[in-house]
Amino acid sequence: MRNFLYILLFCFCSICWADSTMDLLIPSTAIAQRLQEVGMQIDKQYKNEELVVVMVMKGALVVTADLIRNLHIPVSVEFVRAKSYGKNGTSQGKLTITGLDDFNVKGKNVLIVDDIFDSGTTMKALVNIFKAKKTKSLRSLVLLLKQVPYETGYRPDHVLFEIPNRFVIGYGLDYKESFRELPGIYAFKDDKPPF
Ligand code: IMP
Ligand code: MG
Repeated sequence: MRNFLYILLFCFCSICWADSTMDLLIPSTAIAQRLQEVGMQIDKQYKNEELVVVMVMKGALVVTADLIRNLHIPVSVEFVRAKSYGKNGTSQGKLTITGLDDFNVKGKNVLIVDDIFDSGTTMKALVNIFKAKKTKSLRSLVLLLKQVPYETGYRPDHVLFEIPNRFVIGYGLDYKESFRELPGIYAFKDDKPPF
């Protein structure tokens, strides 16, 4: 009982701290509602055929976990790892993608799930790689799409929310590996990171 109270107090303090240093852009309730809507669309699209959900680690961890629990078709989950952000946490570096050889998707329905579509470089690169793997169908889903000029000419099939061009954290998205655990989507006040 005492441990439970400590956990409650910790959660309460972290949410209060987040609210005083960050702007809440999307509450967790809105994300849950969008996932239900998009889950229904995806169920209809695949008509009970099996779907391989490819999660782009680490940012897509939370959205993938919640998405698959809104699907009612047979699903399997694979993951790849994409890294593009440099040490300073908010500026882009060279893109590396790993884990592609660990599973076979030839002839299967594939849905690539990522946390955010910013410049689109990561998703475009993944789509090109998976096209070459001769999947039965290939679609993409992103939790967030930043309102920036499209550099790649590619647009994801499913977008849960469009957001302004700010650096965001929470619900799987990190700043220097922190803040993935926040239940909603936040931006730092005045866009100033705390460290
Ligand atoms: P893109 O290749 O420019 O579309 O960037 C995609 C990747 O950069 C995403 O998968 C994220 O991991 C990361 N990213 C882009 N914008 C943000 C942000 O605002 N917060 C956290 N990570 C971001
Ligand atoms: Mg990512």
